[in-house]
Amino acid sequence: MSSMTVNGSPVRFDLDPDTPLLWALRDAANLTGTKYGCGVGDCGACMVLIDGEALRSCLVTIGEAEGRLITTIEGLARDRSHPVQQALVAEQAIQCGFCTPGIVMAGAALIAKNRSPSKAEIIAAIPNLCRCGVYPRIVQAIERAGRVAARRETISAAPAPGIDASDAARAVPAMRVPSKKPAQ
Ligand code: FES
Ligand code: FES
Repeated sequence: MSSMTVNGSPVRFDLDPDTPLLWALRDAANLTGTKYGCGVGDCGACMVLIDGEALRSCLVTIGEAEGRLITTIEGLARDRSHPVQQALVAEQAIQCGFCTPGIVMAGAALIAKNRSPSKAEIIAAIPNLCRCGVYPRIVQAIERAGRVAARRETISAAPAPGIDASDAARAVPAMRVPSKKPAQ
């Protein structure tokens, strides 16, 4: 049993403490925005925020995540209005949607600490793999996101609202608390 806060809500996973956080989020909590790419810490598709730090959830067990604050892509901004999301769309820096959630989380962690990151700082903070090679655009987008976060720039066409994370989790049998059997 491991307890933590996921996207602002208390969650208790009745799973082996050695279960990777990635599996718990995707398979038990139905938060499938966090992607399984390599499973061994190479690609960054599984990145989530743990106490504000972008970490690969395939390498963190739920035992290690005990008591910590987890934010997934579903909880970052429910209307996709986070500056990194807006800037990635505006700069056309995303293509497949598979690597994107991890890139957004890594970018969000960076921008939260540094709104004017250098190119080298962006590259160091976002080691995520993208097979279609939009890296230069990702750098531009994160620079722009920093300006948006600092209110030095606005992006007029925000991305359209998407699914509410709580609606997604609601339909997951694994999240239901089993009802007690009536006494015989
Ligand atoms: S799935 Fe975690 S780094 Fe690739
Ligand atoms: S945008 Fe996902 S692999 Fe390039």
